[in-house]
Amino acid sequence: MTNRKKEPGGAGRSEATAGPSSPVKSDGPVLPGDAPSDYERYIRVPEILALQKPEDKMSHPDELLFQVAHQSMEIWFKVVLQSIARAKIHIEKDEILEAHNMLRRVVSVVKLAKDSIHLLETMPNQDYHTIRLALGRGSGSESPGFNGILVDAPKLWRPFEAMMKRKGVSLDEIFAKPHTHVQEHMLAEALTDLDMYFHLWREDHLAMIKRVIGRDVHSLKGYSVHQLETDIQTQFYPELWAVRNRLTIAAGLTEYGGSAPK
Ligand code: HEM
Repeated sequence: MTNRKKEPGGAGRSEATAGPSSPVKSDGPVLPGDAPSDYERYIRVPEILALQKPEDKMSHPDELLFQVAHQSMEIWFKVVLQSIARAKIHIEKDEILEAHNMLRRVVSVVKLAKDSIHLLETMPNQDYHTIRLALGRGSGSESPGFNGILVDAPKLWRPFEAMMKRKGVSLDEIFAKPHTHVQEHMLAEALTDLDMYFHLWREDHLAMIKRVIGRDVHSLKGYSVHQLETDIQTQFYPELWAVRNRLTIAAGLTEYGGSAPK
């Protein structure tokens, strides 16, 4: 974002520069607060920027990146949790397209969060070990946002099942006839996206851990990175994955070789 030069006597764009069709009529802030512009007051810029350690208190300059990566993740997870709650209400009311749109937002945020994990790979390993000590006994596994998603995302399954019951259609029928049950199929796929991209967040986070601290080690909490490889295999909606096996087997194509041993 550019740092616009303030006009003399004004906080930003003046009436003269705003143009005839601009909704900007006067330039002083109108929202309550002390910050110089309404942007900073509404977005709470001073408060947000005060949430990182001051430079002189940092164990290493990269601590800014480390703190911001975690803080922004918590804020995005807050959006995910709100959107999951809203999607649930829509499913319960058979508002399938609205539920789908809400889940599309969830998935977009999770993708963004997943990609942002890799920013931490720009820290030299040795510098991370200095920063890590500043976190005390803390661990990302204590993230309220992440743990909230682990609890709330699976809760979409029962409303989805109830919706199928109301519509008199089974999961196998939805997947066997996606062009007949278009909306139900869209919603099932949106739930699958949520399950898949959240899993990929965990995969990307694990890959980043291996790069930053190594695979054959324990965290400061004594947790083994090997154990995390097992933890991340859980699924929110196992039924949405199982139906694909049944569909493949039902297709009866010999090259798939039938069902594989479990
Ligand atoms: C250099 C960066 C990072 C390293 C080396 C790291 C390392 C680790 C390790 C070793 C664990 C295993 C549990 C434990 O700590 O005992 C863990 C778990 C976790 N961390 Fe991180 N982490 C990093 C960044 C982040 C960030 C930015 C977040 C964002 C909130 C985060 C969230 C989590 C979560 C949610 C778990 C539980 C993961 C799961 O069950 O899949 N971590 N992390």
